[in-house]
Amino acid sequence: MNKGLAGDFSMLKGEPPIKFLTKANKMEREGRDIVRFEIGQPDFESPENVKEAAKKALDDGFTKYVPTMGIPDLVEAIQDDIKETRGFRPTKEQIMVLPGAKPGIFFGLLALVEQGDGVIYQNPGFFTYDSTIGYLGAKKQEIPLYEKDEFRMTPTQIEKRITDDTKVIMLNSPQNPTGSVLTKSDIRAIAEIAEENDIYVLSDEIYSKMLYDEMEHHSPAYLDGCKERTILLDGFSKAYSMTGWRLGYAIGPEELIHKMDLLVADAISCTTSFVQKAGVEALRNSHDFVDDIMEHFTERREAIVSGLNEVPGFSCIYPKGAFYAFPNIKETGMKSEELTDHLLEEAGVCLLPGTAFGSQGEGYLRLSYATSLDEIEKGIERLKEAMADIL
Ligand SMILES: Cc1ncc(COP(=O)(O)O)c(C=O)c1O
Repeated sequence: MNKGLAGDFSMLKGEPPIKFLTKANKMEREGRDIVRFEIGQPDFESPENVKEAAKKALDDGFTKYVPTMGIPDLVEAIQDDIKETRGFRPTKEQIMVLPGAKPGIFFGLLALVEQGDGVIYQNPGFFTYDSTIGYLGAKKQEIPLYEKDEFRMTPTQIEKRITDDTKVIMLNSPQNPTGSVLTKSDIRAIAEIAEENDIYVLSDEIYSKMLYDEMEHHSPAYLDGCKERTILLDGFSKAYSMTGWRLGYAIGPEELIHKMDLLVADAISCTTSFVQKAGVEALRNSHDFVDDIMEHFTERREAIVSGLNEVPGFSCIYPKGAFYAFPNIKETGMKSEELTDHLLEEAGVCLLPGTAFGSQGEGYLRLSYATSLDEIEKGIERLKEAMADIL
């Protein structure tokens, strides 16, 4: 008999969408036509110039181990991008290249949080936060998001939630799953609250380049340039449609980045060498690509939100960033998960229950509109018919 596994794995959530995705895949194999709204990844090909850069790196034999912190030309490209987009230039020692932004959440929290420390985060929110915080034995200090606040976590809510144990505030703007975007004054107030209370801010800015209505991105790093307490996470998965490449980065206080460097060295040695070359090309020469996909997302947002507002029992506010619609389904009287199952089975539409992102997601669904306009229109027609039958 073995002695059992370490840690409370019951806290780890894995990927909640898998359950629905697997069922939809099975239905497709059985011949059903399913409209897919569950997947949080852009449907566009990665940029051609980025693919070429990776191919060239392979042909040049750039296939060996590279520095754990990242290759110098990518680190420099990140410094330039941060200067342009956030207004400060981090030192090389403040930057840690990672296989995605997600490892920044995991290694960042691992480096910051001890058992019993409090972590403030949004509910509903990206499921990895709740999962990692729970596994590390940290205290969950959730903040409920309300539709009346356009799903924005307010500085007042944060102030009320802070206790002596609070070590980290997690931000995510633009947000998954609601598409909410914190205003400049929200961000400024939160950064100041963190400073006054000597709390770290882990700011997941993976959707920073995906905004609508001429909104601008704001980061709490404006206050300390990531020198004292802000850890900024960003990456290539969403804006450059590079989910499978696994490339992202963390920027933070040098002391913290050094700790993450030690963890990453033991866990993965380094981020894939030739993928980093592709990252340089993405940051330096792919602005047009991002503009282009955002034009498509703007059209799709209009189609999906206006369509959802015509579905009996649904109402949906416009997301201000990312590519998720988060309709309110409370008028249907059905639970989110029950309705999700029903819509998959009866209407052939796969989406996610708001509860996949936390208890506060009850009464909502999440639809990713990273799919074509034709599919969006087909999906909306099916939802209208299915809901008209029920209500
Ligand atoms: C809020 C948020 N952070 C991080 C990630 C993961 O990013 P990456 O693919 O760079 O690891 C996602 C992906 O869905 C996300 O929604």
